[in-house]
Amino acid sequence: MAVIHNGIIENFQRLRTELEQSGVVLESETDTEIVAHLIAHILPELNNDLPKAMQSVCSRLEGAFTLVVIDRDQPDLVVGARRNSPLVVGLGTDGNFLASDVAAFVEHTKDALELGQDQIVILRADSVEVTDFSGNPVEPKPFTIDWDTSAAEKGGHDLFMLKEIYEQPKAVKDSLLGRIDESHRITLDELNIDPLVLREINKVIVVACGTAAHAGMLAKYAIEHWTHLPVDVELASEFRYRDPIVGPDALVIAISQSGETMDTLMALRYAKEQGARTLAICNTVGSTIPRESDAVIYTYAGPEIAVASTKAFLTQITATYLVGLFLAQVRGSMFEDEIRSVLADLNDMSQKVDLVLDTAEPVRALARELANARSVLFLGRHVGYPVALEGALKLKELAYMHAEGFPAGELKHGPIALIEEGIPVVVIVPSPRGRAVLHDKIVSNIQEVRARGALVIAIAEEGDESIVPFADHIIRIPAVPTLMQPLVAVVPLQIFACEMATVKGHDVDQPRNLAKSVTVE
Ligand code: M6R
Repeated sequence: MAVIHNGIIENFQRLRTELEQSGVVLESETDTEIVAHLIAHILPELNNDLPKAMQSVCSRLEGAFTLVVIDRDQPDLVVGARRNSPLVVGLGTDGNFLASDVAAFVEHTKDALELGQDQIVILRADSVEVTDFSGNPVEPKPFTIDWDTSAAEKGGHDLFMLKEIYEQPKAVKDSLLGRIDESHRITLDELNIDPLVLREINKVIVVACGTAAHAGMLAKYAIEHWTHLPVDVELASEFRYRDPIVGPDALVIAISQSGETMDTLMALRYAKEQGARTLAICNTVGSTIPRESDAVIYTYAGPEIAVASTKAFLTQITATYLVGLFLAQVRGSMFEDEIRSVLADLNDMSQKVDLVLDTAEPVRALARELANARSVLFLGRHVGYPVALEGALKLKELAYMHAEGFPAGELKHGPIALIEEGIPVVVIVPSPRGRAVLHDKIVSNIQEVRARGALVIAIAEEGDESIVPFADHIIRIPAVPTLMQPLVAVVPLQIFACEMATVKGHDVDQPRNLAKSVTVE
C-alpha cells in the first residue's frame, strides 16, 4: 500500500496509540504512516474494498488532509480524499489525473473536476466516481482550465521564476482586460456584491500571507487614499487568534495566488462567521478560497509554478487597485476624471514593467558582486515599505540569506544598530515628484546608513539626479505616479534575488523547506 498525504492529521497521536496497542509496529514518527496502517488494518474486513476503507478511515481523521492511496493488489485503482486541503481531478482521453493543482496536469488535459470538502474520489484509467465520506454519490463540478499548455513549460528560460518574471507585463495587462469599459469606467461584473452593500461598508480588512500580504499592504495605501475607508491589513495566520473587530459592515478581502493557503482560508471563514462580506482576489480558478467567498476577482497571471511569487504579486496589486477604484466609483469618493486618470496610469504599467526588464543586466551584475554578503537590508517609505519587505522576502526564500525590510523611519528606533562596514542596504527611493517630504526624508536615511559604512543601492526613478551623490549604486526605474511605483520597483528586487540564488547554486524554483501552496496552518 502506498499513501501520499498533504496536511496534518491532528488526532494522530491517539490513533497511533490505538494501532500500537493492537500490535502494529510503526517505523516513523509521521502522521502519514498511521493512515497506511489504518487502511491496511481495515481492508480485509471490508473485502478489500479500498474506497470503503478510505471512507471509514477518513471519518476518523481530524485536521486538514489530502490523501491518495494505491494498493499493490489493485493496481488499476487510485483512491483520493480531501478535507480542507486541495485535490483536483484531471479528465484525460487515455487516463485520469489527481493533483493538488491543475498546473501538474495541464499539459495532458484541460478538463477538470472540482472536489468539495470531505469527498472521496475513486479513479480508474477510464472512470471517475466521487462520494462523500459516507459513500453517498456526489456530482462533482466540471470546469475547463483556460491556461495555455505552454504555461507548464519554461518557454526558453532556464527557470520557471525567470519565465514568470518576464511574463509580468502580460500578466498585468491581462488582469485589466475586460474590466474597463469604453467610457473608462470600471466594470467588475464578476463582483456580484450589490453596489448598495459596497456603499454601506465602513471598513475593509485584507487577510493574506507572505507576498500576498505585501500586496495587501499596498492596497491599504491606495484604497484609503481613494475611498477614505479605513483598511486593516492582517496576516491571515494571526487574524482569528485575537479578537478582530469584524462584522457585517466590513468587506474582507482575501488575497491568495493559490486559493488554498490554509491560514487565509481560515481567516476568511472566520470573517464569514462574523457576518462580513468576503471577496477573494485569486489566481487559481476553482480553488477553495474563491469558492467560499461571496465574490471573486481573478488575477490573470496564468499558472505560477516557481515557489517564489512574482507575477502573482503584480497582478494582486493590479486587482486590489481595481477594487479600490471600483469602491471609489460606487461610493463617489473620487471624481470620474480622477478615476480615469489612475486607470490610464495602471494601463501604462505593463509597458513600464517591460522597460525595467529590458534594463535588468546591471541588477544581475550587482547580485553577483554581492553574493558573499552576510546580510542585506531593504529600506522604504510609504509604498516603498511593502516593496522593501518583498525584496527581503525574495532574498531570504531564494538565496537563504539574512535579509530584512524596514520602514526607513524606523531605522533610528533600533535597526540602525545592524549597520556595519560594507553591509548592502537597498533603498526604494520615493519619487521626488510625489510627496517631496518622503524623498527628502529617505535621503536623510541614506546619509545615516552611509555614514556608518553601508553600501547603498538606490532604486530610484529616471531623472532623479538628486540621489546621485548619496548612492554607491543606482538602479533606475521608470518615473511613474507614487502608487504605481511598487509595480516597477519590485522587479529589480526579484531579479536580484533570483540571480543571487543562481550564483549560490540554489534550486531557485523549489527553494528548500518551502511549498508552493501552504495548505497547513
Ligand atoms: O498562494 P498564496 O498567495 O496564498 O501564498 C501566500 C504565501 O505563501 C506566498 O506568497 C509565499 O510567501 C511565497 N513563497 C512568497 O514568494
